[in-house]
Parts: sequence; C-alpha cells; structure tokens
Amino acid sequence: MKNKVVVTGGLGYIGSHTVVALLENGYEPIIIDNLENSSLEVINGIFKITGIKPSLHIIDCKVYIELETVIKNIEGICGIIHFAAYKSVNESIEKSYAYYENNILSLINVIKIADKYAIENIVFSSSCTVYGNPLEQPVTENMPFGEITNPYGKSKMMCEEILKDFYISSAKHKVISLRYFNPIGAHTTGLIGELPNGIPNNLLPYITKVASGKLAKLKVFGNDYNTKDGTCMRDFIHVCDLADAHISALNYANSKENKNYDVFNIGTGIPTSVLELITTFEKVNNIKIDYEFTKRRAGDIESIYAKTDKAAETLSWKSKRNISQSLKDAWNWELKNNKHD
Ligand code: UFG
Repeated sequence: MKNKVVVTGGLGYIGSHTVVALLENGYEPIIIDNLENSSLEVINGIFKITGIKPSLHIIDCKVYIELETVIKNIEGICGIIHFAAYKSVNESIEKSYAYYENNILSLINVIKIADKYAIENIVFSSSCTVYGNPLEQPVTENMPFGEITNPYGKSKMMCEEILKDFYISSAKHKVISLRYFNPIGAHTTGLIGELPNGIPNNLLPYITKVASGKLAKLKVFGNDYNTKDGTCMRDFIHVCDLADAHISALNYANSKENKNYDVFNIGTGIPTSVLELITTFEKVNNIKIDYEFTKRRAGDIESIYAKTDKAAETLSWKSKRNISQSLKDAWNWELKNNKHD
C-alpha cells in the first residue's frame, strides 16, 4: 500500500502537529521545509513524541527543480499536504508581491509535481480568511465570499481557485482545501508548538508571552464591537484537532475512486470572544494577564465562526479538545520553551 505523504512546511506550527498525527496513523511523512519560519529542533520534538525521525529535505517549494529532485526518487507517495506558505496578515500588506510569489508559486509547483508523478491526493491548507467579512454566521462552505482585505487572504483564495481548475482538467486527482479557523494550543507533551518569529501578531502567543513576563502588557484591539462583551469573536481550534482533520481528509481522498474536489471548514463551531479567551487562560492556568483595551486593529473582522456539519458528515471529523485544554497546552509549551526567546 502506498503510505508516503509529502508534507511541505512540515516543521511549521500546523505542519509539525500533522506530521505527528500522520505517524500515529500509519502514514510515512516526508517533510519538506525551507526553515524560513521554522527550526530544525522541531524534528527532535517529533522524534521524542513518536520515536520516529521522519525523512526531512531542506528545500524551497518555490524552486520546482528542488522539489522534483526530491520527489522523483521516492516510490509509493499517496499524497501531498501543502502547508508551506507565508501567513502574516500584516506583513502581506507591506510585501504583497512576496506573498503572491511564495504562496502561489509553491502551490503551482506542488500541482505540477502531483501531475507529473501521479500523486493522486492533495490536501491544501486554506483559511477562513477567504470568507472576508462574512455576510452570515456561522459561515458555510458554499456561501459567497465577502471582501478579502489583505494579500495573504487573497493568495489563499487564489490557490483554492487554481486547485479547482486543476481538478477540472485532471483525470484522477482528489483535491481537498481545508479552511482553518484560528489554530491555538500545542501538543500536550509540550515538545512541539508554535514558534513565532519575533513579537507575535496572533492573540494566544501574545498572551503566553505576557504571562511569562517576556512582554509587558496585552493590547486588546477594540471593545466596542457589536458582540456580547464588545471584543471580537473567533472560532479557536486546538492545533491537534486541526492536525487530525488532515488525516480524515487524506483518508477520505484515498477512499475516492474518481477525481474529486472539495472544501471543508475546520473549526469547532463555537464562537469565543477575545476577552473570554483571556479570562479562561487566567482561570485554567491560575495566572494574571495584564491587558488594556485599545483602538480596533485595521482589517479585523468583528466575528467569524464555522459551521462544521460538512466535515462531520463527509470526513467523519469533529474537534475533540475544548478551549481550556488548548490554553493549558499553550501555557505548558511556553513554560517548556523559554530557551527559544
Ligand atoms: N488580538 C488582540 N490583541 C493582540 C492580538 C490579537 O486583541 O495582540 C485580537 C484581534 O484583534 C482579533 C483576535 O484577537 O480580534 C484574533 O486575532 P489573531 O491575530 O490571533 O487572529 P486573526 O483572527 O486576526 O487571524 C488569524 C491568522 C490568519 C488567519 C485567520 C483565520 O492570523 O492568518 O486567523 O484563519 F487567516
């Protein structure tokens, strides 16, 4: 049986947790990573959790020849999970062309490789950012997109379109786009987790840095939204639940006889406000977070959360871990990884 899965960006935050999930589910991951936003140490964390050191190729997906040099020598590849991408909303506004170049070129190279070497299953890491400012809540996969306000989000939307066109022309590929909501937390062992470059932009990594005293105070961007406590609402999902969704997607793609394209929301379906996340973090970890309300952050949407029925019905996948678990795991990871700062 073919059980090898190429994981681009496999040393990144979601990628590394997915590599662990693949190993635990009988797949053989082959990691491709250019180390631009990740660290070689992640492979040691994966080894400590699973007892296996997967094969690792330090190459850049933007360079087709590098990708081909690796892939052409491997027999038995059943799928590619494509994470490798830039992911900062703010940075994408400043360096739009770099985001389009990296995110789109890498995807095109992945498709070219999948086509040339008959790798039938492709799972793409998309984002709920493609919904823009949603017209309704919870968001469903087939609802029309609102306006997407940043190049990062547009690059994800364009990648989905490119994949859809590829599927139309393909004779046999099974392609799945997973629209992630807000991933948080870390592996419960504290051996792998998120390693943001510099000062974090995202909420939970910022909270853990304030909790550990590395940053002075959290700014809560806006408390005048039309929500229950005035702060934004998000669908925060444990990164291990997100990782498991890739196994379900791959199994589903593998089970299909004919070519297929599909897209799934991967969230919990539960909206949580920014303030609730902070106060729950304080409660479950028994630690105070110093925070203040400041003005709204440009480009933020008020509220977004997923309708997850499609993933439940089609992929037999549902999130299992609650917010408290995510927040305990995030704090455990922070405590075990002081050396990274
Ligand atoms: N927030 C703060 N203070 C901070 C950081 C964030 O109040 O220091 C607030 C934001 O204003 C927002 C919420 O916390 O209301 C969540 O913000 P994040 O930056 O953590 O996450 P976003 O929802 O803005 O975006 C994230 C990723 C995107 C991805 C999107 C949907 O950054 O890459 O989720 O998947 F596209």
